[in-house]
Amino acid sequence: MPLIPMRTMLDHAAENGYGIAALNVNNMEQIQAIMIAAQETDSPVIVQASRGARSYSEDAYLRHLMLAAAELNPKIPMAMHLDHGNGVEACRSAIEQNFTSVMMDGSLSEDGKTPSTYEYNVEVTRQVVDIAHAVGVSVEGEIGALGGIEDGHGAGLSEEEAQEHLTDPDQAEQFVADTGVDAVAVAIGTSHGAYKFKKKPTGDVLKMDLIEEIHRRLPNAHLVMHGSSSVPQELQDIINQYGGELNPTYGVPVDQIQRGIEHGVRKVNVDTDNRLAITGAIRKVLAETPEKFDPRDYLKPARQAMAEVCKARMIAFGQAGHAGGIPISTCKEMVSFYQS
Ligand code: G3H
Ligand code: 13P
Ligand code: ZN
Repeated sequence: MPLIPMRTMLDHAAENGYGIAALNVNNMEQIQAIMIAAQETDSPVIVQASRGARSYSEDAYLRHLMLAAAELNPKIPMAMHLDHGNGVEACRSAIEQNFTSVMMDGSLSEDGKTPSTYEYNVEVTRQVVDIAHAVGVSVEGEIGALGGIEDGHGAGLSEEEAQEHLTDPDQAEQFVADTGVDAVAVAIGTSHGAYKFKKKPTGDVLKMDLIEEIHRRLPNAHLVMHGSSSVPQELQDIINQYGGELNPTYGVPVDQIQRGIEHGVRKVNVDTDNRLAITGAIRKVLAETPEKFDPRDYLKPARQAMAEVCKARMIAFGQAGHAGGIPISTCKEMVSFYQS
């Protein structure tokens, strides 16, 4: 099966009331972990690569690994998405490299850190929509800025500062009308990375009511939740038990994501939970069997640990069982959809 545009999947998710995990990858084992989970749960998948992933893995490796995944899993619909594109050129080059969906994150300036203006955001997002839709590729935009770690993508905002850049529902409505995006990421108090909340989040820091308000105003928009790792205590514990030093932290509870899915969230970005699972599994092998040195001895359990996280999210978000239901439209076929 060819890689398909993300829009087709999100439309199906909306019609059937479920969400889809968008899972970050940087290498073969992570792609394999997602495909193991998709096979076992019969799920459609969104695989995404950040700018950092593209430079770590190189586009050609990623492209061929994704083609291998598609070849080996002919019944699983797959979209390949650029996570947090920081400019028109980043999106254009991803499209040239076989990505079937791109995120133009104009909520931040090209440095990927400084919150930008509404006008800048609309301008760059609109340009990407024009380029992408001309070849049937889907586009995600973002309105409002997330907090997050300095070394990954995000504004580097603290938990408190992130509250100042939440999505304004009026602006969200305007943004969708001004840009024509297929999906819109909203800022509701989450941030990237492991350190999201200092205690189990309540509604004053994790604003699920904002999602509900945006969905009321934009009932047909596909909403995207970034920073949606749950940072499970058991994954933190494995890392710390085997020599890691994670500070106490809380993520986004799965039941809150499910609440979002009931209110228009169709794409749920998860990276950190998989990183935690991989690292915990590797630490465990190396700590318990220090004589081992074959990378397969720790990469195999790492891949399996990530597959378990992916499986759990696919089931919780409701995408499990829907692989066969997605209409298969190619990017080429989407061109006329956008023209009409
Ligand atoms: O947006 C954040 C994702 O977790 C990707 O992180 O930029 O470190 O690859 P990265
Ligand atoms: P997490 O860091 O919560 O996994 O978020 C990932 C993300 O939003 C990627 O765009
Ligand atoms: Zn993100």
